[in-house]
Amino acid sequence: MNGTTLMQVQGLKVAYGKIEAVKGIDLELREGEITTLVGANGAGKSTTLLALSGLVRKAEGRVRFDGRDLTRMAPHRIVAQGVVQVAEGRAILTTLTVRENLELGAYTRRDRGHRAADIDRVFHMFPVLKERADGLAGNLSGGEQQMLAIGRALMAKPRLLLLDEPSMGLAPIVVQDIFRTLSEINRDGLTIFLVEQNVRQALKIARHAYVIETGRIVLSGSGAELLDNPRVQDAYLGG
Ligand SMILES: Nc1ncnc2c1ncn2[C@@H]1O[C@H](COP(=O)(O)OP(=O)(O)OP(=O)(O)O)[C@@H](O)[C@H]1O
Ligand SMILES: [Mg+2]
Repeated sequence: MNGTTLMQVQGLKVAYGKIEAVKGIDLELREGEITTLVGANGAGKSTTLLALSGLVRKAEGRVRFDGRDLTRMAPHRIVAQGVVQVAEGRAILTTLTVRENLELGAYTRRDRGHRAADIDRVFHMFPVLKERADGLAGNLSGGEQQMLAIGRALMAKPRLLLLDEPSMGLAPIVVQDIFRTLSEINRDGLTIFLVEQNVRQALKIARHAYVIETGRIVLSGSGAELLDNPRVQDAYLGG
């Protein structure tokens, strides 16, 4: 149901040896909404996502998803629950075709029927991928590769989509394209957790937002509220 809590994170701490990267954070991701976590380099954004996906060890804290405790669950089981992270750095398979990359995205699913229909949905969302379906993924532009990475994650039929800086390294116009698409995917009902350094764009599309500084949440509110917040403007929006 829209607006109910889909994922709840309480007291999350993650350390790399002596470095405390995440120092006890609480997050609530509500069903049907885009929630964003914004912050500067090294603030602990990627570490938070990795912890939710089960890819780094949680020193403390609890993660619940749709009533289930994911805190100690293995990464592949977390994916099977429907918590799917878009591969970082786009990590698509450059020597395979666009279509083959999308087909691989479905491999974690138990039901593999409807795969052709799902690929068609991704092609509908990203027409450029359809044009390039049988070309090598490695020949796509940076923005197209990001679209493919998102499309591949959608093939796993997520209930919660996690994204780590999808705007990284892309021209502003392409960033706008990607963010518009995320809004559309969300309007179709998908819950999204977006980690971003592009604070302005992320706050624009997010219903709820958290600001992280050196491993701690220092501000939260609606995306619109934080866009208007003087402290956010000074620190992240160039005054
Ligand atoms: N594998 C690791 N080993 C040791 N320290 C790490 C490791 N990964 C991250 N860190 C440290 O943990 C802190 C948080 O890093 P993290 O990658 O989560 O930040 P981030 O907010 O994603 O930054 P960016 O915007 O640059 O991606 C940083 O101080 C970083 O140097
Ligand atoms: Mg990062």
